[in-house]
Amino acid sequence: MSHNTFPDGFIWGTATSAFQIEGAPYQGGKGESIWDRFCHTPGKVAGGDTGDTACDHYHRYKEDIALLAELGIPNYRFSIAWPRIFPEKGKVNPEGVKFYHNLLDELANYGIEPMATIFHWDLPQWMQDEGGWASREIVPQFLEYAELLFREYGGRVNKWNTINEPWVVSMLGHGTGDNAPGHTDWYEALTVAHHVLLCHGLTVRRYKEMGFKGDIGVVLNFTPAYAATDSEEDRAAAARYDGYFNTWFLDPVFKGAYPANMVAWYESKLGPLRFIQDGDLEIMNTPGDFLAFNYYSRNVLKAGNAFPLIDVDFVETDLDKTDMGWDIHPESLYRLLTRLKEEYTQLPLYITENGAAYDLPVVDGEVRDDIRIKYIHEHLEACHRFIREGGNLQGYYVWSFMDNFEWALGYQKRFGIVHVDYDTLVRTPKQSAKWYSEVIRRNGLPE
Ligand code: NOJ
Repeated sequence: MSHNTFPDGFIWGTATSAFQIEGAPYQGGKGESIWDRFCHTPGKVAGGDTGDTACDHYHRYKEDIALLAELGIPNYRFSIAWPRIFPEKGKVNPEGVKFYHNLLDELANYGIEPMATIFHWDLPQWMQDEGGWASREIVPQFLEYAELLFREYGGRVNKWNTINEPWVVSMLGHGTGDNAPGHTDWYEALTVAHHVLLCHGLTVRRYKEMGFKGDIGVVLNFTPAYAATDSEEDRAAAARYDGYFNTWFLDPVFKGAYPANMVAWYESKLGPLRFIQDGDLEIMNTPGDFLAFNYYSRNVLKAGNAFPLIDVDFVETDLDKTDMGWDIHPESLYRLLTRLKEEYTQLPLYITENGAAYDLPVVDGEVRDDIRIKYIHEHLEACHRFIREGGNLQGYYVWSFMDNFEWALGYQKRFGIVHVDYDTLVRTPKQSAKWYSEVIRRNGLPE
C-alpha cells in the first residue's frame, strides 16, 4: 500500500436510510411509523418538516441508483422500512416487499453491492402502541420481521446491519426525547438499549441458523470523550460519558457484560436494572462478522450538572465545527479505530457513516463544498494511517448520498454529496461527489 492508496478490495460506499429519503409514507400499502407520528406532532421537528415527501426516493429510486452508478460508487448502504413490510402486526405487505426487490434489481443492474440495515429508527406505530422498544414483546416481532427480510433478500444481500445506532434509539428516543417517540425517562432509555441489543444478538443468531453465508453486524455510533482538565473530577466525568455513550453498547456485544462502574452509577440514580434477565448478556455477546460504526465528532466534558444522568457539563472548544455544531476532529477517529482494535475486536471494522453537514447553494449548476471535501479527506487520512499501521478497516461509507431529512432538525442540515432541491426535487452532485468518485477511481487520496 503506497502513501495514498488503500488496500485492494477496500469497500467504498455511501449511505442513506429509508425514512430520511423515501417519502410516500402512506403509499404502496405502507403503515404509519413513529416518525410519521412524531413529525405531525407540532413542535417536535424543526420548521414543522415531515417525511411526507423527503427526497421522493420511493418514486425516484431508479434515477437515484443511476446517479450512484454514474458517480462510480460501488457500494450502497440503505435501510428497509419495517412499516412498509409489516403495516400491521403479523400482516406482510407484498408491495412493500416488492419495492426493495426493485431497488435491489436496480443496484444489481449496475453491479452496486448493497448493505441493508434492518432497523434505522422508523418503528411501526402499531409496535409503539404495544409498548415499542420499552417492551420485551418487541423481541418476537423484530425477529419475525428480520426473518422475513432474510427469506426475501438473504440470497441477494450479503452485508446486513441489524440495528443502526442503539444509543440514538434509546437515549434520544426515550431519554432526552429529541427523537421519536419522544419519551423522557432514563430508566426506560436503558430498558430500550437492552432490548435493542437483545434483538441484535438474536437476529445475528437467526441469520446464521438460517444458513446464510453473508456478513451481519450491528452499527454502533461513537463519540470519544475527553476531559476538559486533568483534574480527577473531570477525568471521571469524561469516563462516565464514555460509559454512557460508547461502552454501554460495546461491552455487552463484545465482552458479554455491561461496564460495572456504569451499572453501579445508574443503579444509584435510577434503582435496580430489572430488565436484565438471566442469559440476556450471553445473547447480546454475539457480534456477528464485523464491527460497523458511525463517527462524526467527539465531546469534551467536565464534572457538573448540565446533564444530571451522569453529572457532566459539555465544554465548548474552539475547533472548527460543521453546521451541526460538532467539533471536527479526525484525530479522534484514528484513536477510536485504534482503541476498537486494541480493546475490543480483531473482526473487520467498517465505518458505515462519516460526513459533514454544510448548507451551500447551487450556483451555475455547481455546489462548491470544498469544506466538506476537506472534512472527508482528513477523516480518510485518519483511516489510511490506521490501515498503514496494520488496522483491519475494510470499508467506508460517506453519510450521505444525498441531502435528506435530518430527523428532529428537518431539512436544514444538509449532509449529502448530492444536493437536493426540496421544491423541484432536482438532484445536483456537489463537488464533493466528484471528488469522492475520483478517490474511488484511484482507490486512494489525491496527492
Ligand atoms: C447518524 C444516523 O444514522 C443518520 O440517520 C443521521 O442522519 C446522521 N447520523 C447524521 O446525523
